[in-house]
Order: sequence, then C-alpha cells, then structure tokens
Amino acid sequence: MCQSSRGALIVIEGLDRAGKSTQHARLCQNLESQGHRVNRMRFPDRTTSIGKSIDAYLKGESEQEDHVVHLLFSANRWEAATSIRAAIEEGITVVIDRYYYSGIVYSAAKGRKDLSLQWAREPEIGLPRPDICLYLDISTEEQAKRGGFGNEKYETSAMQERVRELFYKLQLLPDGQDIQVIDAGGNVAGVEKDIMERVEQMMADTRLAEDLRNIL
Ligand code: TMP
Ligand code: MG
Repeated sequence: MCQSSRGALIVIEGLDRAGKSTQHARLCQNLESQGHRVNRMRFPDRTTSIGKSIDAYLKGESEQEDHVVHLLFSANRWEAATSIRAAIEEGITVVIDRYYYSGIVYSAAKGRKDLSLQWAREPEIGLPRPDICLYLDISTEEQAKRGGFGNEKYETSAMQERVRELFYKLQLLPDGQDIQVIDAGGNVAGVEKDIMERVEQMMADTRLAEDLRNIL
C-alpha cells in the first residue's frame, strides 16, 4: 500500500468489553506489516498528572464534580494534541483507543440536564479530527456474556445501556459523519477484517482526494 504524505488519525470506540484493546493492537500490527509507521495511543492516558486524577476518580478513590471530571478527560486529550498533530504531519498514522466520542457520550450518559451532548462537545472543539472513528458495537446482552464488568465507575449495566443509546444519538449529530459502526459481536478475526477493510477504503479515499487537490 502506498502511503499518503500525511499520516491518518484513526479512532476505535465502543462500550467497555467490546474488544477495543484487542482490535486496537491488531489494527496497529496490520498497518505496520503493510509498511505504515504507527503511533499507538489511548485515552484516558493515565500516566500524566491529569490522567492520574482521572484514574483515581474511575477507581472510586476520589470524588469529582461531573463537569470537572468531564473537563479533566478533555484536558487529558488537549495535553496530547500537539504530539498527535506532529505525528500525523510527519507521515505517522496515529491509532487511538477511545477519544472525544467517549468523552462526550459517557459524560452525557450521567443524565444531567446541565450536561447535555452539546455541552460535553464544547471543550473538544479544535482537537485533531479523526479521519475515521470505528465504533465497535455490541449488545448489552453480549457485553454481559463477556464476563461482566470490572469495578470502575462507569462499569454498570445501567450506565452502559445509556452510553450505547447515546453513541447512536451521536451518529445523528455532526460528529456522526466520522463514525462507522462495526458489528463487534462476531469472532475476533471477522471484526479485524471488517476494520481493516474500512481503514483501507478510508486511506484510498484520502489518497484520491489528495491526488485531485494536486491536479486542480
Ligand atoms: P478505559 O476502560 O478505556 O480505560 O476507559 C475508562 C473509562 O473512562 C471508560 O468507562 C470510559 C470512560 N471515559 C470517559 O468517561 N470519558 C473519556 O473522555 C474517556 C476517554 C473515557
Ligand atoms: Mg474499561
């Protein structure tokens, strides 16, 4: 596969237990074996000082007001924004496990009138926009079959159901243009193939658009 001059920004999204980490790892390996240079990232990035506050909140070790924690998640992306942009400009493909789509949806899923999808979107405006967001969709029943949940803050079936509904609602809003739904209920290899096909199509479209720009 020939590379376009800039790297792509690819996001994998989905509910907890949808298989994001596995598919993230496989996609990165597949792209590397095709000759792409790849940076792997994930949010929340729990290694920074903001990330450590988020980690403590998710583990129930600290309390945070809902708007505050939303802004911490957003700030955790903003602290990486410059390096994401630099990598892409250098021709490196950046593949991220969760991004602002989770940011918007999980906060809005708390169901507060003063924390709507629209409100939650505002601090994310200006972050590097992905070329594609692959949303790994699984039913809440399938999610439960996959060994239930861990002990973190949002890992309850009520919260996950609201998150799933809001991921669907988000697809009807402007950010929805970037989202492609992947049926992640099937076997790992099938999901991997589906993801790779969508990514290759996106890259071909991007190259075509670039070629056209160069001609015109
Ligand atoms: P993780 O399981 O991928 O490490 O993510 C931890 C939790 O944080 C998960 O339940 C989703 C949630 N989350 C947000 O609430 N806002 C965000 O901006 C991100 C990236 C994740
Ligand atoms: Mg998790």
